[in-house]
Amino acid sequence: MQKNYYLTFILLLLVFTVKAQTITSPDKNLTLKFALAANGVPTYQLTYKQKPVIKTSKLGIETKDVPSFLDGFTVTKTEQQSFNESWNPVWGEQKTIRNNYNELLVTLAQKTVKDRYIRIRFRLFNDGLGFRYEFPSQPNLNYFIIKEEHTQFALAGDHKAFWLPGDFDTQEYETVTSKLSEVRGKMKAAVTPNVSQTTFSPTGLQTPLMMKSQDGLYINIHEAALVDYSCMSLNLDDKNFVLESFLTPDAIGDKGYMQAPTQTPWRTVIVSDKAGDVLLSKLVYNLNEPTKFKDVSWIKPVKYVGVWWEMITGKSTWAYTDLENVQLGITDYSKTKPNGKHGANTANVKKYIDFAAKNGFDAVLVEGWNEGWEDWFGKTKDYVFDFVTPYPDFDVKELHRYAASKGVKIIMHHETSGSVRNYERHLDTAYKFMVENGYNAVKSGYVGQIIPRGEHHYGQWLVNHYLYAVTKAADYKIMVNAHEAIRPTGLARTYPNLIGNEAARGTEYESFGGNTPDHTTILPFTRLIGGPMDYTPGIFQTKISAYNPENNSFVHTTLAKQLALYVTMYSPLQMAADLPETYEKFADAFQFIKDVAVDWDESYALEAEPGDYITLARKAKGKNEWYIGSITDENARVATVTFGYLPKGKTFEATIYADGKDASFDKNPQSYSIRKMKVSSKTVLKQQVAPGGGFAISVK
Ligand code: NOJ
Ligand code: CA
Repeated sequence: MQKNYYLTFILLLLVFTVKAQTITSPDKNLTLKFALAANGVPTYQLTYKQKPVIKTSKLGIETKDVPSFLDGFTVTKTEQQSFNESWNPVWGEQKTIRNNYNELLVTLAQKTVKDRYIRIRFRLFNDGLGFRYEFPSQPNLNYFIIKEEHTQFALAGDHKAFWLPGDFDTQEYETVTSKLSEVRGKMKAAVTPNVSQTTFSPTGLQTPLMMKSQDGLYINIHEAALVDYSCMSLNLDDKNFVLESFLTPDAIGDKGYMQAPTQTPWRTVIVSDKAGDVLLSKLVYNLNEPTKFKDVSWIKPVKYVGVWWEMITGKSTWAYTDLENVQLGITDYSKTKPNGKHGANTANVKKYIDFAAKNGFDAVLVEGWNEGWEDWFGKTKDYVFDFVTPYPDFDVKELHRYAASKGVKIIMHHETSGSVRNYERHLDTAYKFMVENGYNAVKSGYVGQIIPRGEHHYGQWLVNHYLYAVTKAADYKIMVNAHEAIRPTGLARTYPNLIGNEAARGTEYESFGGNTPDHTTILPFTRLIGGPMDYTPGIFQTKISAYNPENNSFVHTTLAKQLALYVTMYSPLQMAADLPETYEKFADAFQFIKDVAVDWDESYALEAEPGDYITLARKAKGKNEWYIGSITDENARVATVTFGYLPKGKTFEATIYADGKDASFDKNPQSYSIRKMKVSSKTVLKQQVAPGGGFAISVK
């Protein structure tokens, strides 16, 4: 009798503990199941229209000092709620974003380990899942150190993946397209050299990771609201197709310093049977907090030109003098011999300001204006730049006056040389200097190994620094565009002065040997999922040797595709990266860059397939103007452009900037044609696209 009682109790316990909790998405397409497996291990699974997206996968966190949050759990409480709101971003691809989800909050106690509890919060949207671990304030949990997060994503098959090698320091790799089972074999070749890089596994991958299943599901795994935590990479078990979180360690190998109450970032899985839905998903933003900024009137989208491409191509230099002078210990630059190629000189900057003013640009970026550029690259020196001392030929006050008189802003440049310690020493003074001299935006950069030495670009310490730099900038009403920083995770919802990031191979690589023609057909599915990229399109002079005879690189797109990128690569910060003299030669095509909006009311994915092609249409914010961009990879194709988003019964004039009949990215990139046609909501346009080509359309 006693025994039977006991058995019944055990059975009841089992039934109780393994009983799954289920929620569905508002449209019922997605189903999430949470359950405890044997030993009280938390698990979850996800389906989309009955197809498996994530098979039963474990959840848990391994700690260093206190018992781990891996097993021994019982469910003490489950709560469900629904949420539905709309919000208006300060800038974006659409003026109103719907945030609609069903939530499951599971409280898990670990009585056998120690009397303490955690929570796992799941939010199921129509476009996917977000979940995170939460550590409420409680007597038995205060400080803890994370050894590893063990969040699994068990995939349903050997999907086609668009992947970057997992790395703690850089995302500036070419995306590899392969089956998951091929990752290991392709890893070595994928890891191309970079001045700072740290790979961790032969099957390590970065997020956002884009995949396509054999049964036609588009699946994207990333994270949202990465705050005070390490960046999550993924390690692939290539026998079973299980991805598992792999956090970036700090200098002593620890992966996260935590204090309750706290939480992890959201782990996100976007899924749809239409690729275009992934492009338009706002799930990552929705999982971020609304902005706390009371006044956002100072945050404005920016279209800019810059003293930049001329240095990237090697036509001119960031440095004022040559290295020998600095090696001799000369620090008084007015006594050094100029190298005669310094781009950021007052006269040249004025030329760009004139060009910006004449063509309606908001700003001019100037790099190489401050002392130190002779001697820093790859050297990991503690103190290189002070961010306030100009070279002798860059007249800060005169340029402030001149730019203001023309209604143009100058964008400040802070290359930290990876010495974040030195940057933080100077940050306040540097921002004050900006305000005094009329700058309201900074492009920062983190090239090279991080100082403090041993820290990684994507570790918790740096994640905290990047956000510190952004929030501190907000105190000064400064907008930030950070290069080589952590890839975005939707934080721009909360901190909308974060108007740009790099964190992938930008256009600069076209001058360093080239990006593959499919590169920009992938980035919107990967890098752009968390926020905009300062991709810097607009290169019309596709042969770099025209600027620097020693540089044989060429741009791997047609000229018309460069125009399309202003629409397909969404950013509130868009550069016209080529030189003014080149734009003057191609004034008719340049007209599109002058016209195109950088902020939108609505966006429409007309055609999309990662790695192959993208056709997007967008309505300019507050205007009856539409812009369409279409790009292809190395294969020519015929795009189908529909106009159903135009107001019914009206006719508009469309200007089509297309590839010439004989155009191709490698043989004839500068061949283009411009034509006009009348369009209405019923028009269907078939447009030929050249290999590595594209087209852009403005509709007014
Ligand atoms: C790399 C950045 O991506 C590029 O835009 C910048 O010009 C250089 N670093 C120099 O800071
Ligand atoms: Ca870079």
